[in-house]
Amino acid sequence: MSTPTVDLRLLADPALRADPYPLLRQLRAASPLSLMDGMLVVAARHRDCAALLRHPNASSERARSELVPAGLPRGALSFLSLDPPDHTRLRRLVSSAFTPRVVAGLRPRITEVVDALFARIAEQGRADIVADLAYPLPVQIISELLGVPADDHEQFRVWSARLARSLDPQFADPDQQRLDAAAQAREEFERYFGRLIAQRRAHPADDLLSLLVHAESEGDQLTEEELLATCVLLLVAGHETTANLIANAVLALLRQPDQLAALRARPALVEPCVEETLRFDPPVQLTTRIARGPLPVGDTEVPDGGIAVLLIAAANRDPEVFDDPDRFDITRGGTGHLAFAAGIHFCLGAGLARLESAVALDAFAQRVVAPRLATPTVAYKENFNLRGPARLEVEFDAVT
Ligand code: HEM
Repeated sequence: MSTPTVDLRLLADPALRADPYPLLRQLRAASPLSLMDGMLVVAARHRDCAALLRHPNASSERARSELVPAGLPRGALSFLSLDPPDHTRLRRLVSSAFTPRVVAGLRPRITEVVDALFARIAEQGRADIVADLAYPLPVQIISELLGVPADDHEQFRVWSARLARSLDPQFADPDQQRLDAAAQAREEFERYFGRLIAQRRAHPADDLLSLLVHAESEGDQLTEEELLATCVLLLVAGHETTANLIANAVLALLRQPDQLAALRARPALVEPCVEETLRFDPPVQLTTRIARGPLPVGDTEVPDGGIAVLLIAAANRDPEVFDDPDRFDITRGGTGHLAFAAGIHFCLGAGLARLESAVALDAFAQRVVAPRLATPTVAYKENFNLRGPARLEVEFDAVT
């Protein structure tokens, strides 16, 4: 354990949004880092984060921690923030919609959506990869899976962004305005889903929403509040993150033209390219766990009720696990990154996110002729946890 030499709050500094990695390297070297009289421990090494994610005393019930600021969005918690047995019960209800077979079956539809997006990009003659590809693809697909009219996405885009922003831990004083905006977004989401749920009760359809409504009507499987929270989770967890993955990958490829050329020459590298982006520039930069009983982190431990902050983005560049970790290399072919976490909360949508990104990147690499960044610097969204470009302007010669 070490005494703090680097300031964790720097993570929230907008000036570091474009490149937090030098700071993350320092935090990793200093980790485990014990703050607030030991009640907050920062884990940034791969082996510490990997062990924490699988530890039975690592609770996801963040709302119960005394260190979490009051006033976080109210409402039932989604299973992302629950422990067993509630977590197990709720996750099981939706996991049938995300099995490898079901996900593989979505490939033709994903390809169709990607083709339509590239047709529009070709017409425009230039692209903002974020607005023209990275966002619309996951929103369209998850909306169809859930059974939410994709035309409504303008409505829920703003609510999602507010909720995503509220996932940034507050190292400084809680920003009440941001918390209020998130609480309001959650209420609007719940009203919106409330109406859709009523419709599905009257007219069930072949979608995830109807499946959940049916489970709720069966009695003891989930309450109406849990049903709402699950819908919001599925809609929000999937699109901000996948959008960042696609944008991060395009950005890395454009900055390392040899990697783009390699992908163009060998289309089979597209899956390794997705994995390398997840390692190199993960869409979810950190997560947290609450200690239920002593929670070991390397040579220290978080006492009962304390918080562990897991810097996934730092663990993914740990030189103990990855050679030359700051190099983006799509031929690495390695797994072992923690971008989707690990253990019982391992991302339920990982297969879907991987497939959507692979189809989008394959089309980008194979069909866009001579793509290049239109601006030398890239503007990032404010979020530092769900981190990604706000815009990614790309010029090209043609789309074939
Ligand atoms: C959980 C990352 C896409 C649904 C998680 C967690 C991470 C993560 C790190 C674990 C958080 C924690 O335990 O603290 C990502 C990334 C994505 C992505 C990087 C895209 C590149 C998706 C998609 C969906 C989804 C497309 C669904 C449509 C979920 C759900 C959970 C989750 C439901 C909660 C799992 C549980 O608590 O058991 N994701 N995710 N995610 N993700 Fe994803």
